[in-house]
Amino acid sequence: MTAGQDITREYKAHVSEIRRRWDNALQAEGYDSALIHAGSKLVSFLDDYEYPFRCNPHLLWWLPLTRHHDSALLVRPGRRPRLYYYQPDDYWYLPPTDPQSWWAEEFDVIPVRAAEAWKQAETGAHAAFVGDADTFTSAVNPDQLNPSRLLNRVHLERTRKTSYEIACMAEAANLGAIAHKAAEKAFRAGLSEYDIHQQYCMAIKLVDAELPYGNIVALNEHGSVLHYQAHAQQVPGELHSFLLDAGATVHAYASDITRTYAAADGEFAEMISAMDEMQQQLCAAVVAGLDFRQLHLRAYLGVAGILKDFQIIKTSAEDAVATGLCSVFSPHGLGHFLGLQTHDVAGLIDDADGTPIPRPEGHPFLRLTRNLEAGNVLTIEPGLYFIEPLLRKWRENGDASAINWDKVNAWSQYGGIRIEDNVLVTDGTARNLTREAFANLEV
Ligand code: GLY
Ligand code: MN
Ligand code: MN
Repeated sequence: MTAGQDITREYKAHVSEIRRRWDNALQAEGYDSALIHAGSKLVSFLDDYEYPFRCNPHLLWWLPLTRHHDSALLVRPGRRPRLYYYQPDDYWYLPPTDPQSWWAEEFDVIPVRAAEAWKQAETGAHAAFVGDADTFTSAVNPDQLNPSRLLNRVHLERTRKTSYEIACMAEAANLGAIAHKAAEKAFRAGLSEYDIHQQYCMAIKLVDAELPYGNIVALNEHGSVLHYQAHAQQVPGELHSFLLDAGATVHAYASDITRTYAAADGEFAEMISAMDEMQQQLCAAVVAGLDFRQLHLRAYLGVAGILKDFQIIKTSAEDAVATGLCSVFSPHGLGHFLGLQTHDVAGLIDDADGTPIPRPEGHPFLRLTRNLEAGNVLTIEPGLYFIEPLLRKWRENGDASAINWDKVNAWSQYGGIRIEDNVLVTDGTARNLTREAFANLEV
């Protein structure tokens, strides 16, 4: 994507800040340098085609080099970082363009023609090597490779977003909102999942490989498959609902947005409104210092309350959470950190040792257990679904009388509801990047 003026203006300060953070981390762990490798292309078995390239996010934190396999960055405390910019003489594939001034100015850029040019880097006696390329890992001492204390430190630092990162994520939210609107229009026009997906990508001129994750484009009961990946080409005979979980990227920073729509007014539309209201209350409760586990449990009580209000369960909301009944209808965590990775790093650790912060018992899929800090960006994505295998398991092994099965059977055609926003934590009112982005479309 093209860089907005406001974004590139923030970049210099971003690099200066992450230089400071890397320098501190290297010094604290006793390293002379870190060599961060982009990664290499992965070729499929018995073939000469490659999987879509995904750059090492540690390199992306420094530079927006999303397509630049085999580039590498040398980081040394107190010195300008040095970029080995891999630009092969290639006529099978288009090589990377020349470095662009808006990011190159912060680095000593050395264009290189050989993929292994980084081996000449002056790393010093005690260097760390960060990345996963095969040629890279086989060339260095295993205990210098991805040292866990160093990486934990950097991962924790990555949870505190700079102004540049926030600007990228706000723009990724804007793109996501534009594409979501196009997809909703396509749904209302009766298009298939496949065609809705095409409309989504066309609206923001991204191809699949540029999306942060595979779009989840789910009509009717497909909404109950949490990471539904098929893009069916047939339009169902009757349309009941549409769940769209899809984002966008700007300089490698992601948005991760879900909206659910009813095909017509009625009870399902009312349930979506109830979930939306609850989700907004959760977003409004996001503040620095909050233990995210408490908010997750509050979300479960909210979902259970809605199940009760719609007479789907017969127990109290509290009992439904305590017995695991609520998890049958809501089997994932309330949210996760977001950034260069959709499920961003360090959601479950306390310190450089990687000391785990445990999940609440009975909540194995929660990806974020930390106390929130200003600068964190995370998703708030409560869900409520009618998932056949989980319902069947409960019917066979749980208290089957706690569920109103007639209601469940009637609701199954809708699949489920998820509402997902991306929220920036501050010391005061949280900034909801997603609601802001949808509001921007209204003006
Ligand atoms: N789109 C994946 C997730 O919401 O976590
Ligand atoms: Mn999502
Ligand atoms: Mn998510």
